[in-house]
Amino acid sequence: MNRSVRLCELGALDDGAVTRVDIDGQRIAVARVGQTVYAIGDRCSHANFSLSDGFLSAGDCTIECPKHGSRFSLVTGVPDSLPAVRAVPVYEVRVDGDDVIAELPEDDR
Ligand code: FES
Repeated sequence: MNRSVRLCELGALDDGAVTRVDIDGQRIAVARVGQTVYAIGDRCSHANFSLSDGFLSAGDCTIECPKHGSRFSLVTGVPDSLPAVRAVPVYEVRVDGDDVIAELPEDDR
């Protein structure tokens, strides 16, 4: 079961940048590429570092962990390079007017 959660305003997201949003203690990295917004788990699956502090590659829709450099797909959450080997969660996002809304699992609270 999912719940729809407003993450932020679209206008608050810079194109080509990643922003960390905290929802009920859950960290979400929100990335904007043009008019498309992606939301993935902010906590690297290798260690507790924030992916939103990493480096967004808009061209291949990845974000690189700032600590050891694993690159995660914004689409699937799967890392394509070591040392991370596990995917991070990926959340469905829609933009409604200026609201960025994500579908978050109930059990992620
Ligand atoms: S903490 Fe992210 S790759 Fe090591």
